[in-house]
Amino acid sequence: MRSQCLLLSLLPVCVVVWTAPPEVESQTVTTREFRVDYENDQFLLDGESFRYVSGSLHYFRVPRVYWRDRLRKLRAAGLNAVCTYVEWSQHEPSPGVYNFTGELDIIHFFQLAQEEGLHVILRPGPYICAEREMGGFPPWLLTLHPEMKLRSSDSNYQAHVQSWLNSLMTLVQPQLYGNGGPIILVQVENEYGSYFACDYDHTSWLRDQFSSYVGMDAVLFTTDGAGDGYLQCGKIDGVFATVDFGSGTNVSAAFHAMRNHQAHGPLVNNEFYPGWLSHWDEAYQTVGTNQVTKTLDEILATNASVNLYMFFGGTNFGFMSGANYGSKYEPQLTSYDYDAPLTEAGDPTDKYFAIREVVGRYLPLPDLALPEITAKGEYGVVHMFPVVSLLDDEVKSGLGTPTVIETYPLTFEALGQSYGFVLYETMVPSNTGDPSLLDVNTIGDRALVFLDKVQKGVLSRSRNITTLSLITKVNQTLQILVENQGRINYGSRINDTKGLLSNVTLDDSELTQWTMTGFPLSSISWLQEQNTKNLSETLLLPAFYRGEFQLPENNNLTLDTYLDPTGWDKGVAFINGYNLGRYWPRAGPQVTLYVPGSFLHPYPETNTIVLLELEGTPNSLQVKFVSKPNLGSTSYSAQNV
Ligand SMILES: *[C@@H]1O[C@H](CO)[C@@H](O)[C@H](O)[C@H]1NC(C)=O
Ligand SMILES: *[C@@H]1O[C@H](CO)[C@@H](O)[C@H](O)[C@H]1NC(C)=O
Ligand SMILES: *[C@@H]1O[C@H](CO)[C@@H](O)[C@H](O)[C@H]1NC(C)=O
Ligand SMILES: *[C@@H]1O[C@H](CO)[C@@H](O)[C@H](O)[C@H]1NC(C)=O
Ligand SMILES: *[C@@H]1O[C@H](CO)[C@@H](O)[C@H](O)[C@H]1NC(C)=O
Ligand SMILES: *[C@@H]1O[C@H](CO)[C@@H](O)[C@H](O)[C@H]1NC(C)=O
Ligand SMILES: *[C@@H]1O[C@H](CO)[C@@H](O)[C@H](O)[C@H]1NC(C)=O
Ligand SMILES: *[C@@H]1O[C@H](CO)[C@@H](O)[C@H](O)[C@H]1NC(C)=O
Ligand SMILES: *[C@@H]1O[C@H](CO)[C@@H](O)[C@H](O)[C@H]1NC(C)=O
Repeated sequence: MRSQCLLLSLLPVCVVVWTAPPEVESQTVTTREFRVDYENDQFLLDGESFRYVSGSLHYFRVPRVYWRDRLRKLRAAGLNAVCTYVEWSQHEPSPGVYNFTGELDIIHFFQLAQEEGLHVILRPGPYICAEREMGGFPPWLLTLHPEMKLRSSDSNYQAHVQSWLNSLMTLVQPQLYGNGGPIILVQVENEYGSYFACDYDHTSWLRDQFSSYVGMDAVLFTTDGAGDGYLQCGKIDGVFATVDFGSGTNVSAAFHAMRNHQAHGPLVNNEFYPGWLSHWDEAYQTVGTNQVTKTLDEILATNASVNLYMFFGGTNFGFMSGANYGSKYEPQLTSYDYDAPLTEAGDPTDKYFAIREVVGRYLPLPDLALPEITAKGEYGVVHMFPVVSLLDDEVKSGLGTPTVIETYPLTFEALGQSYGFVLYETMVPSNTGDPSLLDVNTIGDRALVFLDKVQKGVLSRSRNITTLSLITKVNQTLQILVENQGRINYGSRINDTKGLLSNVTLDDSELTQWTMTGFPLSSISWLQEQNTKNLSETLLLPAFYRGEFQLPENNNLTLDTYLDPTGWDKGVAFINGYNLGRYWPRAGPQVTLYVPGSFLHPYPETNTIVLLELEGTPNSLQVKFVSKPNLGSTSYSAQNV
């Protein structure tokens, strides 16, 4: 710690803390210090009793141009801190290649928070759950060492964690409270007590890693479920423990569990849930406002600190939503609205104002204008034109990764691909029955099956459908297009590899000589250059469709809007090259996709929308841009997925 501080000795704060002569230290110098006061069960901020009422808001779920807006709205509700995870997978897209710029400029995010009068609670993982792809882990971890035990003292795992933390925490250090920045707390791991490994060697190693960067300049903490089982493995010696629980929980019982494992210190619920997450093909999850305010009031009445997870949820743009595995594989929605106090578009809800009222009983409310619902664009119908079928050979060179040929199928990870789709192709051998049975055994996660480019059926991990009856002819091309629907982010199955995960058989004979082409779709610029076809031309699915539109002439604003793909089945939507995420109105509950105004071009420029439709097109090829979101009904009943 001392040596790091000397490295930063250009900072006046550090000079005061570490290099000032003794007589200065004994005076009342304004040193910046945040710490836990275990004697009086409270936090101390610069020596004063302190509690936080914080809100979770993830920089990676909202465009950078909206960061300040969301932070200010959080502050306007009376909150005095913002809590964010750091998503390793985005910052280190390949081993040793780091990115902290643009949408990933976390330092800018911290600075904005500080300018808006908010402390920062940082949760750098390295595992974050967060309903994100692989819980924030870069999938290349599975490539380099397939047997690696994640979140454990596996030396390969720790080596990668060590370099990542070195890169991240050196950048974070000047942002710590003791160094003049807004970060008061830094979390070690994340709900480790919910993981099966219970590896104390690992958690104390991780504590020492963080401690070497953080020292006394912020407080290290852990968060776990409010139960003995969770705290047993989650609590780390020498690290301040907090718990998490939702509305309707018996608050005194939950804090009693925390006290069982940590007799003194402030009480903290670091994840209080004012809403909840939703998966595809289930009812949209909500939490009633009265229940939220009642429990929040009870928490605050005990003098506890609290973080509302999520205060603003945002969006899983691109392919970054994760999945759970309960009794089956359950991928999460593109929207992470979360039924939070601020909607996906940053609009205040009744819940927002009700929470503000409760917070106002305990903390001074700032003199800030109350947020209003922003205007949305009702941009109307856009006609979509066929461009090209995904299985057309030219798409391989335009959008595909270089083709790999192997005897047995390789996983996405072995092919070096993290997200999107992989096309597996082989020839139908002779001596198959009529009909013959295709068996993929284990699949991650959903696959379309074709014979000579004609779709024959769908295989699904969620539905445990892994076989298909086919009428085949020798030498037909069998094609299996596999979609990664999101790696599992919670539990023991986070090492969730994708693609064809076992050998594929046709009537019990193993299929070999696979040709594999990846479609990560990280850029679709090739597609934008292709001409559209006549509407009368029907493309074999999956296929790309494109539409163009201008915003109204009367102003130069680009308002937020929602893409309504009703009538289309399942696919991915892009606007001006930005991947808005997956749409799947047939499964629901989410129907519309949030389109930030910052993704649009003002009049008279042209906006381009591209859909990759996988499974079915409407009679009339069109989409709509509407001013109201449709995240589906809470009484939704599962359809034919
Ligand atoms: C870093 O990430 C940003 C996302 O905001 C991206 O625009 C940029 O291209 C990335 N930089 C590199 C070098 O990959
Ligand atoms: C995932 O990790 C667990 C625990 O290390 C291991 O038992 C399991 O075999 C792994 N699964 C895969 C698909 O690698
Ligand atoms: C809440 O839990 C406490 C034990 O911590 C118990 O005494 C109390 O009866 C419980 N309250 C309710 C409403 O269940
Ligand atoms: C909360 O803190 C205040 C001020 O320190 C104290 O008077 C009160 O007893 C505390 N309440 C509880 C429930 O601990
Ligand atoms: C999936 O189906 C197979 C065969 O019907 C069965 O053996 C297996 O237990 C099922 N798996 C799950 C997770 O339901
Ligand atoms: C199938 O393809 C193989 C190799 O190209 C060829 O030798 C064989 O004659 C073909 N069979 C039929 C029935 O077309
Ligand atoms: C596929 O079969 C081959 C030969 O039987 C075997 O070596 C290989 O491990 C199998 N692959 C998988 C993923 O089971
Ligand atoms: C289809 O395209 C051709 C030229 O590409 C054009 O001549 C023809 O009129 C178009 N047909 C329709 C129905 O739009
Ligand atoms: C948008 O319109 C306003 C009012 O007409 C004008 O002041 C402003 O310069 C315009 N902005 C751009 C980027 O064209």
